[in-house]
Amino acid sequence: MSDQATLILDGVNHELPIITGVEGERAIDIRDLRERTGHITLDPGYGNTGSCLSDITFIDGENGILRYRGIPIEQFATSPNFVEVAWLLIFGQLPTAAQYTSFADDLTRFANLDEGMKHHFEGFPRAAPPMAILSAMINALSCFHPDLHELDDEDQFRMAAARLISKIRTIAAYAYRHSVGKPYNYPDPRLRYVPNFLHMMFSQPFDQYVCDETVRDALNLVLILHADHEQNCSTSTVRMVGSSRANLFASCAAGVCALWGPLHGGANVAVLDMLEQIHKGNITPDEYVSMAKSKDSKVRLMGFGHRVYKNFDPRAQMLRTVTERLLERLGKPDPLLDIARRLEEIALRDPYFVDRKLYPNVDFYSGIIMRAIGIPADMFTVLFAIGRLPGWIAHWWEQSQEQGGKIARPRQIYTGNLQTDYVPLADRG
Ligand code: ACO
Repeated sequence: MSDQATLILDGVNHELPIITGVEGERAIDIRDLRERTGHITLDPGYGNTGSCLSDITFIDGENGILRYRGIPIEQFATSPNFVEVAWLLIFGQLPTAAQYTSFADDLTRFANLDEGMKHHFEGFPRAAPPMAILSAMINALSCFHPDLHELDDEDQFRMAAARLISKIRTIAAYAYRHSVGKPYNYPDPRLRYVPNFLHMMFSQPFDQYVCDETVRDALNLVLILHADHEQNCSTSTVRMVGSSRANLFASCAAGVCALWGPLHGGANVAVLDMLEQIHKGNITPDEYVSMAKSKDSKVRLMGFGHRVYKNFDPRAQMLRTVTERLLERLGKPDPLLDIARRLEEIALRDPYFVDRKLYPNVDFYSGIIMRAIGIPADMFTVLFAIGRLPGWIAHWWEQSQEQGGKIARPRQIYTGNLQTDYVPLADRG
């Protein structure tokens, strides 16, 4: 295979190097294209643009493959442990037993928020969207840890990462407790990551939440399956913000905002809305699918389609299995699961979806799992953010370690007015 591409512009040949990834993906390196030719490339939505070289996650969207640091995600299903996967993504290898224990202890140690920070929650209206609170409070963490703005070495970075991974769950639980007018639960140092989060969410005074093993494993797996997905919208946002040398907290707060949108992490809430509309009898599954296909409607089949997966999304398949197992173990059949299965069945037989290679994505089943655990719909995207945080941190660190890393600054093709003159206000018609 050639290691150069030839671009002919105005009759002049320009040789451009081809970069090949370890899994054989190929890219034309256009780093000095503008300097050499005066041209830029145009790629709205960046579907054909590689923004970086990365060692973290490999996706083969045509074959439904997702691997974290080389490990296929299916291998995390048997004894799911989110903290272990967070370490893997961030530091590049599975932790040794000693590393794991020390990191898990750090997550326990750092779970409390500064008491001063707790007062911020009171300022938010009860109905405030929890994603807004999450982003604001992650950014606020940078006020409480000015010593962690500049991370000089890996030890300091590990302390910042552990604080963030630990505290995001406390912030999330406090945002929920504030929204329902219940007292905040301090983290319980006897509990590990997921049970501690569920305790902070659901324990009541004199009634400690007890975490069922099936629930613990299901939520661990949900978080793992959301933990990284290479250069998606929120991760690219974290990298973009981080490229200006903004600190880790500020960069991840921006990631939360990007994740919030309904075409990204917010889709899990939209999926539940869709399933509930159908359940209430407002519309049938067939009618919904027809509406999603119509060019006259803005409706899409939520939880379907993906920029990268043009075959099944392996995460959706795993979540479907977990959903079925969890509902059975909890003895809580959910009519929304039957509706989801029915929608999937209709769409996968419909040429509209088949031709466009639209399959269920990670958001299609995750909401049903969270609902079974008792997590309210407006917290679904917050759970996604807790899961995605290790990926954001891993990418932020990878980028910050690059030699000669550049600020991210795309260009544009201007399509506005040609030069025109300013007209004083009094002279305008
Ligand atoms: N329902 C109906 N039609 C769809 C859907 C859908 N869910 N998704 C894509 N299409 C159609 C588009 O209308 C378009 O049709 P056309 O070629 O006739 O114009 C075609 O499929 C291609 O769609 P694009 O929007 O160009 O595909 P893109 O790769 O840009 O978008 C996206 C991917 C945003 C995920 C899209 O499939 C979508 O909106 N899905 C629903 C929202 C969703 O589930 N988002 C979560 C994604 S996973 C994640 O972020 C964690």
